[in-house]
Amino acid sequence: MQRPEPFGQPRLSGRLPAVRGLVFHGPKDIRCESVPDPTPPDARGAVVRVERAAICGSDLHLYGGHLPVPDSGFVIGHEVAGEVVETGGEVSDFRVGDRVLVAGVIGCGRCPRCHRGEVVRCERLETRVFGVGSALPGGQAEAVAVPGADFAMRRIPDGVSVEQAVLLTDILPTGYHGARMAAIAPGESVAVIGLGPVGLMALLCARLFGPARVFAIDTVPERLAAAGELGGIPVPADEATEHLAQATAGQGVDAVIEAVGADETILQALQWARAGGRVSVVGVNVRPDLPFPMGLALMKNLTFRAGLAPVPETWPALVPLVAGGELRPERVFTHRMALSEGAEAYRLFAERREGVLKVLLDPSR
Ligand SMILES: NC(=O)c1ccc[n+]([C@@H]2O[C@H](COP(=O)([O-])OP(=O)(O)OC[C@H]3O[C@@H](n4cnc5c(N)ncnc54)[C@H](O)[C@@H]3O)[C@@H](O)[C@H]2O)c1
Ligand SMILES: [Zn+2]
Ligand SMILES: [Zn+2]
Repeated sequence: MQRPEPFGQPRLSGRLPAVRGLVFHGPKDIRCESVPDPTPPDARGAVVRVERAAICGSDLHLYGGHLPVPDSGFVIGHEVAGEVVETGGEVSDFRVGDRVLVAGVIGCGRCPRCHRGEVVRCERLETRVFGVGSALPGGQAEAVAVPGADFAMRRIPDGVSVEQAVLLTDILPTGYHGARMAAIAPGESVAVIGLGPVGLMALLCARLFGPARVFAIDTVPERLAAAGELGGIPVPADEATEHLAQATAGQGVDAVIEAVGADETILQALQWARAGGRVSVVGVNVRPDLPFPMGLALMKNLTFRAGLAPVPETWPALVPLVAGGELRPERVFTHRMALSEGAEAYRLFAERREGVLKVLLDPSR
């Protein structure tokens, strides 16, 4: 990546040997260190100098040791916006100097579904998330290599801030995907379980579909308050069963969006939906043996959907809504920290201290 020569020394080559990044060494062990300067993975790849990167609840699954990873010693993170500093010879849609956002999840970039942005349904089964193993190093760093750049990136348009761009790489698409899978009709009642950044994005996106009421459920008072500000009806988790029953005359809500990923909350979602209702799970749970209350789902005629967000596929809908001011997701950023403070940023986010909702990292510091 190009950058000013240190202390005015003449540059020996166009490329410095290393950049700084947050390296995952194991659960609760994230360190800001030098890593090799990324190069385009192949002729279809690009390198992006990271302007801002965010920490995601999904990173916390690695940090907490709940998600098995193939190895360690890789740069973590998958929510990045920045500037293209290098492109491979077959990249056609981007030039050096373009400011872009990078999808947190990518596919092969060659199959019909990837071409439609449905990277999580890649026909070659090459769906990959940045920063969960050495095979595709992540973006909480000064620079990140992006394979299949033409399909993984989008230029940041006028009217979209870099903070908003970062949210378009994962959690706003995830909230939108959760709301879409919930198939909300105008006037309906919806419950969102979990008011972390993803749940709050799901709340914002659910409201695009015109529900009469969105019950917003969590255990953390500040998060309930944030949901109230964004138009939800805050309901503390320990009161939710009773509250929802009362509010719907014992019927249950039309749709539930689950944005936690815990066994318990997935089961609650199935219980809180009305007969004929929809359950939409975007919380990450990778248990192969989660007991599923089949009798309940069958007898209530429930629709159950779950999935990672097909991030690029959501951009044609979401980018104009953000640029036009109809969606203002940036409220979720509560902390802006230097990349060098990465270890502390993870501790703060994992322990939910200081009212933290989402942390934005500045790799120039
Ligand atoms: N499907 C996707 O594409 C996708 C993308 C990004 C994140 N995710 C997942 O979404 C989930 C949420 O991410 P986040 O960044 O908001 O994380 P987060 O950890 O900040 O939020 C989780 C929230 O759930 C709340 N919670 C925990 N137990 C609860 C309970 N029993 N009842 C009610 N609320 C409870 C917590 O208080 C917290 O506010 C994670 O599992 C993450 O991996 C999925
Ligand atoms: Zn994420
Ligand atoms: Zn594909």
